[in-house]
Amino acid sequence: METLTLSPRSKTKRLYIESYGCAMNLADSEVIASILQENGYQNQEQEKDADVVFLNTCAIRENAEDKIWHRLTALKASKKHKPGLIVGVLGCMAERLKTKLLDQERLVDLVVGPDAYRDLPNLLAQVEDGHKAVNVLLSREETYAEIAPIRLNSNGINAFISIMRGCDNMCSFCVVPFTRGRERSRDPHSIIHEAKELVAQGYKEVTLLGQNVDSYKWTSEDGSEQVNFAGLLEMTAQVDPSLRVRFSTSHPKDITDEVLYTMAKYENVCNYIHLPAQSGNSRILKLMNRTYDREWYLERVNRIREVIPDCGITCDIIAGFCSETEGEHQDTLSLMELCKFDFSYMYMYSERPGTLAARRYPDDIPEEVKKRRLQEIIDVQHEISRTKNASFVGRTCKVLIEGDSKKSKTDYKGRNDQNMLCVFPKDGVHQKGDYVNVKILSSTTTSLIGEITT
Ligand code: SAH
Ligand code: SF4
Ligand code: F3S
Repeated sequence: METLTLSPRSKTKRLYIESYGCAMNLADSEVIASILQENGYQNQEQEKDADVVFLNTCAIRENAEDKIWHRLTALKASKKHKPGLIVGVLGCMAERLKTKLLDQERLVDLVVGPDAYRDLPNLLAQVEDGHKAVNVLLSREETYAEIAPIRLNSNGINAFISIMRGCDNMCSFCVVPFTRGRERSRDPHSIIHEAKELVAQGYKEVTLLGQNVDSYKWTSEDGSEQVNFAGLLEMTAQVDPSLRVRFSTSHPKDITDEVLYTMAKYENVCNYIHLPAQSGNSRILKLMNRTYDREWYLERVNRIREVIPDCGITCDIIAGFCSETEGEHQDTLSLMELCKFDFSYMYMYSERPGTLAARRYPDDIPEEVKKRRLQEIIDVQHEISRTKNASFVGRTCKVLIEGDSKKSKTDYKGRNDQNMLCVFPKDGVHQKGDYVNVKILSSTTTSLIGEITT
């Protein structure tokens, strides 16, 4: 009988990845899992089963980083019961803090920035040899284009496709250009290939991801082929008429009429745009270096409503940016009333070291004032969402079933074209992944409740 002896290096190792922050980080975790699977690491669903724990981190606000420090302290305690456990910090906080993450004894073993994931097998080998490992080099070319992501925590229906990396916008409050480097667009052929693979695996919806998708621009090496975002959207829409296509995030300065026409032309491109305004006041927008003003933003929203009357629009808002007056805060509230966003992500301004705002403008709005303004913003948004959702009662929406509702196994949840969450009883006929017509019977601030009519 043959005995097989495995050296520790060739033994299958077990990896667990925890993702924080935006969808781009979730998509990156799927690339990381793929790179490491090729190198003998099996992805685990639970931390307790893993020899290597990665935190794929976010640095966008101070509290995002605080969360990671707490998590690292807890993991340090786990190391006591599990000697040899490797803890890695990846992503945006790794890129921002670099070797500072290694200052504290036995807290972190490796630090890897968003453009260095191909180096992970090598870095892990260094850690196994008893060294700390760091790679935070940013790249002008890396898009991980040909790596087939391993879908993590997937429902088998919705998937993210990363179409670009980095950001060149330099909004004065934002750390992303520092953590993710220069903007670069991924080869559209690899994007379409990924979309086709997803269709073959039964996926029904893809979301094209980038910090500023409207500035997607790819030119082939010989210069003979050029694709902009509208072109990529069209190519993706044509992959399969039953594949829903969404995208995020759009920058108000870049979203073109051509993109809106493409959305209107294809039934399977969802009528939904995430269009962060950040503020409704032109002076604040200028300080934020957003490069548009209130009038421009309102014009873009009007244009969207003209071309796609039923379009869902959502927003990001920052409360209490440097030197914001009460009147300027009121402008944000009035912009929200004018635009009637379906939903908004709302934050208090958090100063990030190294950004233009941190260097130039004092973070001078007291915490209580920021809190109060944020609450006013939240209250206005809730009221708009409530009215907006109520206006859907009596309508019938085409909904993609995504799975069981959170609250009840006898109900399904799914989203309509405008990305609104719909909940409805199972009918014993339709399944996850089916499109159904749902008649909306009632609503709350966060969801539409209805019943399947077909
Ligand atoms: N690329 C997207 C935003 C990515 S970051 C865009 O340009 O719209 C997601 C959101 O986090 C931002 O829209 C902004 O509202 C918020 N954000 C970014 N930096 C922040 C900071 N320093 N303090 C508070 N919120 C911030
Ligand atoms: Fe940050 Fe602005 Fe780039 Fe968005 S567009 S990621 S807010 S710098
Ligand atoms: Fe956070 Fe990085 Fe995304 S800072 S929001 S994880 S790009």
